[in-house]
Amino acid sequence: MISAPTPFNDIGNGCAVIFLHGFPFNRSMWRAQIDFLSAHGYRCVAPDLRGLGENKLASEVSTMDDMARDVGTLMDELKIDQAIICGLSMGCYVAFEFAHLFPARVSALVLAGGRCEGPDKAEKQSREQQARRVLQQGFAPSVESILQSLLAAQTLADKPEVVARVREMVAKTDPRGAAAAQRGMAARRDYCGDLPQISVPTLIVAGRDDGVRKPIDAETIHLGLKGSRLETIKDAGHLMNMEQPEVFNQMMWQFLEQLNQ
Ligand code: MLT
Repeated sequence: MISAPTPFNDIGNGCAVIFLHGFPFNRSMWRAQIDFLSAHGYRCVAPDLRGLGENKLASEVSTMDDMARDVGTLMDELKIDQAIICGLSMGCYVAFEFAHLFPARVSALVLAGGRCEGPDKAEKQSREQQARRVLQQGFAPSVESILQSLLAAQTLADKPEVVARVREMVAKTDPRGAAAAQRGMAARRDYCGDLPQISVPTLIVAGRDDGVRKPIDAETIHLGLKGSRLETIKDAGHLMNMEQPEVFNQMMWQFLEQLNQ
């Protein structure tokens, strides 16, 4: 009997891959990866992280440590000792925290749209302002500008179904959970110092048109993680796995298959 309070999908059999979504999204952002990899011999587990999606476990501040420990608890419940951890953006912060807390439970990492730097004073202030704004007004006034910064121009012009899915995810996000996650990201550690301790195979993926992350963010992780692979997806923004699902799936699948050789 599963007693974890974390809502999740658990689809397929084989080597476990845990998918950690970004902000302000939910586990549905991984649909194309779950469909593809579960059909190719992987067990795909995707939780809604604390306070987001259908996860009602909101506190004042949802730290990356809280979220990483929730993932560990879910893995205990599902009897998964070790997994490939795949995160996007905020999911990368959680993946770094998870690798720090539970190094033996990570067999490989996939880090998309991530960065390792901690927040400076300006970022902390901006996150606090955004947390207060979303608590007062919800996402309605900002959803269109969020879409502009998250998605590549090509996605905005040619993929209305992706734009609609992302708009829906953002609009459905609970403001209290979002504010708590913003405050949790403001309180995150600098993960760049953790990189030398991470020795598992790692695939780093960047969207060439990412309006949220800079190319240097992926390059810094790549330089710090010995033996990591860095791939860039063209015509993809911050939500590269939704914008270019076939390319992302192939990249990830090839990386995963090499782990077994
Ligand atoms: C995300 O997509 O998860 C966010 O852009 C993360 C962040 O605000 O740093």
